[in-house]
Amino acid sequence: MRGLIPESFIDDLLTRIDIVEVVERRVPLKKAGREWTACCPFHDERTPSFYVSPQKQFYHCFGCGAHGSAIKFLMEYERLEFPDAVEELAQSVGLEVPREGGDNRPREDRSGWYELLDQAATFYEKALRENAPARAYCDQRGLDADTIARFRIGWAPGGSSLLNRLGTTPERKQWLEQAGMISTGDRGKYDRFRARLMFPIMDRRGRVIAFGGRILDGDGPKYLNSPETPLFHKGRELFGLWQCKQANASLTRLLVVEGYMDAIALHQAGLPIAVATLGTATTPEHTERLFRSAPDVVFCFDGDRAGRAAAWKALEAALPRLRDGRQAFFLFLPEGEDPDSLIRAEGKDGFERRLADATPLSEYFFDHLGEDIDLRSIDGRARLAERARPLIARLPDGAFRDLMGQELTARTGAQTRFEPDAPPRAERPMQSRSVRRTLVRSAIALLLARPSLAEELEPPYGFSRLDRPGVPLLIELIELIRTRPGIRTGVLLEHFAEREEAAALQKLAMADVVGDADMQRNEFLDALTQMERQADLQRIEFLQAAFAQGRIDADGKSELRALLAAKSKKAS
Ligand code: UTP
Ligand code: MN
Repeated sequence: MRGLIPESFIDDLLTRIDIVEVVERRVPLKKAGREWTACCPFHDERTPSFYVSPQKQFYHCFGCGAHGSAIKFLMEYERLEFPDAVEELAQSVGLEVPREGGDNRPREDRSGWYELLDQAATFYEKALRENAPARAYCDQRGLDADTIARFRIGWAPGGSSLLNRLGTTPERKQWLEQAGMISTGDRGKYDRFRARLMFPIMDRRGRVIAFGGRILDGDGPKYLNSPETPLFHKGRELFGLWQCKQANASLTRLLVVEGYMDAIALHQAGLPIAVATLGTATTPEHTERLFRSAPDVVFCFDGDRAGRAAAWKALEAALPRLRDGRQAFFLFLPEGEDPDSLIRAEGKDGFERRLADATPLSEYFFDHLGEDIDLRSIDGRARLAERARPLIARLPDGAFRDLMGQELTARTGAQTRFEPDAPPRAERPMQSRSVRRTLVRSAIALLLARPSLAEELEPPYGFSRLDRPGVPLLIELIELIRTRPGIRTGVLLEHFAEREEAAALQKLAMADVVGDADMQRNEFLDALTQMERQADLQRIEFLQAAFAQGRIDADGKSELRALLAAKSKKAS
């Protein structure tokens, strides 16, 4: 999604708006020196540790670590997805969001599709009212009129009734086909969904983007779903999420179930917090969308083997999304039951009790990993540690990861420290301000504090020959600033929002840089010069080693001589 909006537009937008205004409209701010402050809206606190910087155009909470640009603030605060946050900010300053990508007129095309799919849903709804056996089936499944209306449940009569009714122009026929509503067989084109109870799948704005259809009896798969289309990606959508959001604007928990009928039955029974995956395993995109909608997510599965396997997949998809403040739980149902049957048997209260008893992710994690291991033996404990470590390492940096590490130590006696194992490329050293400052980090910190420092540099950069972690990132930053003079820190960081370096960069952006503008400039240029010198030393070492091993040619020798001469000249 992010890729469809040009980066240059994001830059423009962030340059035009003021993050202080964007935040202030939602969270009252108080002036504190050069910055603005408030109690953090992202965690509970009584003394303010949330700061908004007008110079750097970003926010940062010293309590929970939340941080980012105005876009990120809107995404987190209003629980918007990236394109919607951009859209909202653009509207506030009267800008139109441009889209890039293959299709020339994606917007016009799409609106036609949405309208047509909406008409299809309406057509199916009407057909249900007119079909006695289908209505009887709904009665038998206990669906009431309100639920049928809320989920827009319908009936697909079959043959080519939809095609005939809605495919009134060649263009509309084509759209119906591209949206997956039409199949082609030996005898031409006909409706994909025939004689099925229809469940429209809606996107996050309540627009119909696909359908699931249940057979009442007879042959064929029990459920048939729309194929993947430009509007519909199974691994991304959640059935019922729109209805959850309609029922409650600030959801605190969501329940993920496997079936359409499960989600619907829970809503009808007074638990409008249920969503269903669409016949697929829970994907990382699902979990991101879930956690963006509610801080607590309960994954509900059958107690059988397939259910347990699916639960572990969901856990793996959730791990990288479990920032502090987000919690995942697992609810295993008795064999032979599904949420639909249980809520009918036990009622809302009975189901709530099950929810209250759901297993926290941490417990399920260690129980599952330790299932076939004898923890009384050293070998067993070592095996548990070996299995758990790489998974815990996938958690985002934070208190939860620390606690999981401690729990592993408590269970196995093995120490777990993640920082030293982290890939050096990620340059994630800024755990605290007392961390050793390398030249590269200092240069990056200075550049983030005063992006204009890059504007006086000219390639080729001598320091770029230095083989050290962080150097490529420094070059990337410099290049970016040079193509966008006047860019501010927050906008710069937004470019890296989805990169693994994002957290490290944010920490460097928070680091205090001392001195006045001139001192900072000198320090920056000095750091680059020293890096250049280190690059020379690296090269000298390399060439000397080659020389010692007799692997050096004439060019190498003259290069070495020149380098050594330059070095002694500088030293004297
Ligand atoms: P279930 O068979 O458990 O569905 O499949 P259910 O909702 O309990 O159905 P009822 O109660 O018999 O009506 C769970 C989900 O798996 C997908 C559907 O999304 C279904 O809701 N599924 C199942 C398919 O996509 N195709 C199938 O043939 C079966
Ligand atoms: Mn069922």
